[in-house]
Amino acid sequence: MSFKKMPALRIGDWEADIPIVQGAMGVGISLSNLASAVANAGGIGVIATAGIGQFEPDRDTNLKDADKRALRKEIRKAKAKTSGIIGVNVMVALSDFDDLVQCSVDEGANLLFLGAGLPIGLPKTLLLDRLGELATKFVPIVSSARAATIVFRSWQKRYNHVPDAVVVEGPLAGGHLGFKKEQIDNPDYALEKILPEVIAVVKPYEEQFNRNIPVIAAGGIFTGADIHKFMQLGAQGVQMATRFVATYECDASMEFKEAYLNCKKEDIVIIDSPVGLPGRAIRDKFLERISSGVKETFKCPWKCLKSCDFKNVPYCIGLALTNAKKGDLENGFAFAGANAYLVDKIISVKELIETLVGEYMAVAMQRSLEAIVAAQNA
Ligand SMILES: Cc1cc2nc3c(=O)[nH]c(=O)nc-3n(C[C@H](O)[C@H](O)[C@H](O)COP(=O)(O)O)c2cc1C
Repeated sequence: MSFKKMPALRIGDWEADIPIVQGAMGVGISLSNLASAVANAGGIGVIATAGIGQFEPDRDTNLKDADKRALRKEIRKAKAKTSGIIGVNVMVALSDFDDLVQCSVDEGANLLFLGAGLPIGLPKTLLLDRLGELATKFVPIVSSARAATIVFRSWQKRYNHVPDAVVVEGPLAGGHLGFKKEQIDNPDYALEKILPEVIAVVKPYEEQFNRNIPVIAAGGIFTGADIHKFMQLGAQGVQMATRFVATYECDASMEFKEAYLNCKKEDIVIIDSPVGLPGRAIRDKFLERISSGVKETFKCPWKCLKSCDFKNVPYCIGLALTNAKKGDLENGFAFAGANAYLVDKIISVKELIETLVGEYMAVAMQRSLEAIVAAQNA
């Protein structure tokens, strides 16, 4: 009798032994340190580009160039630390989306995750009629079958190419959510529901383009048993972010990690983000101040988000998240997934991955035994 190990996750030419993608975390929470540690442990490490230039000396005068420079540095640092798979996440909502996508391709990122908006238009600087020949593989993040349909249809029409994989992010995720507020707790929008719907959208394209297009499940996945559950539902991998915050290698400050260790279930709230989407975060003094109607004073050196109404928003989200990364939670806040309150200690990435694999195997073994008993009793 053989018990199934976690299957490898293959996207284009890139194969990860462990089918776990570390979800991108901006601002500055998943940079080269975390991403390379995950890649070294056999998973896929992802650098977040949102606000990546905030730590450069010229951020107040030249944030656009600072973003590109910082991204280049982080990709190079990650690649120097690992021969594993490194992805970059670029939010569609970013004003410098095109530059950051091009920079990631130029620097040889293995994978590009494109979320927080529908990635319909890719930068014209890419060879769009030969997208499939690029070493960098493209993975949109969607929250519904409808969004997946729009992206696949439009790529096929525009580029005669379709994405190499797709992440389906459900409503329990941290950070910005691709749902209306009233959909978040509605079971019709649960990950268990939307995952098979997205798989059904992708299937005909796999046949048409004669290649496997993995669907990766994200949002609220916390244990190896959760991973097993979503793989049974047809996911070929999972994306997890919240659990990677409480690791030594995570690029956030200790104060940020402690916010996770100390939060309770009722502290995890949905906020209206200046990005124009709801977001999930840990309530703190800063968020309380904002929800009581206070408007922070800030200077906007450059409109980093396409949709930001910077003259009217109550605070600068780039600045608030940068402060949080550095540990100043009086003037910022931590994004977090719905299960962040379950985090109780900081461990290494290796230990986390080993724990998840062990839990997965235990459930796989249990299910195999149950199947044998059921067959014997039949
Ligand atoms: C602190 C934090 C920051 C995040 N930042 C980003 C981001 O910059 N871009 C993005 O596409 N998703 C972002 N996310 C979403 C994650 O990449 C991931 O898909 C999601 O949180 C998965 O759910 P989980 O945290 O329950 O595992 C963020 C999540 C967290 C917790």
